[in-house]
Amino acid sequence: MAGNWKMYKTPAETCAFFEKFRPLILQAAHCEIVICPPFTNIPAAVEASRGSAIQVGAQDLYWAKEGAFTGEVSGPMVRAAGASYVIVGHSERRQYFGETSESVLKKTVAALESSLTPIVCVGELLEHRELGKTDAVLCEQCRKGITPLDVRQIVQIVIAYEPVWAIGTGKTATTQQAQDAHAFIRGVIAKMFDDNVAKKVRIQYGGSVKPSNARELMSQPDVDGALVGGASLEARSFADIIKNSI
Ligand code: PGA
Repeated sequence: MAGNWKMYKTPAETCAFFEKFRPLILQAAHCEIVICPPFTNIPAAVEASRGSAIQVGAQDLYWAKEGAFTGEVSGPMVRAAGASYVIVGHSERRQYFGETSESVLKKTVAALESSLTPIVCVGELLEHRELGKTDAVLCEQCRKGITPLDVRQIVQIVIAYEPVWAIGTGKTATTQQAQDAHAFIRGVIAKMFDDNVAKKVRIQYGGSVKPSNARELMSQPDVDGALVGGASLEARSFADIIKNSI
């Protein structure tokens, strides 16, 4: 269960969140919990989560280890700051910052090389779904961005299926739409590797997950977790989503 804070919160607000959030998730032993704040809040989040089961992730990274790349942050830097996860290829990065499946693959490999668990995002636009192209888009994103990984790498990643039309819109995919897409993605991995490998890869659903729909979504056989945006910014609502995901 991962929270993607996007471009929200200062270090002081991060500390305030953890103070409220920590006591609320003490009983949650059924899942891993990750908070992905902006880069500038990673040290504060790492400090505030010390001694708890909460892990910290970044929202992006650059594939080179260091160099003249103004504005970028590398895997070793993210790792040294205390993060253990990193989101790669979020649809907002694909839409607004030119991220492609090719750059997603490079970043995923770089994350693994820095001992970070990548949360690799895939998902179709509304027009794709309306034209019946969802499977084709997911297949293309997986084949270019994910399945070139080797077997040792692929079992270490987390995939987030996030239909773009459901992100930040309040429109959640139906449980059937989520399950179908997750089963399809798992099938693509099974075809490129085998069933056993496909079973090991965790696939999260993302897109307007909230306390009221978490239970139904998480009860689907191929839905292994959630990547939560808006509803992870508030301690109580993210804790309720986690509670409802058992
Ligand atoms: P949302 O965002 O939960 O606000 O729809 C999900 C995401 O972008 O990861």
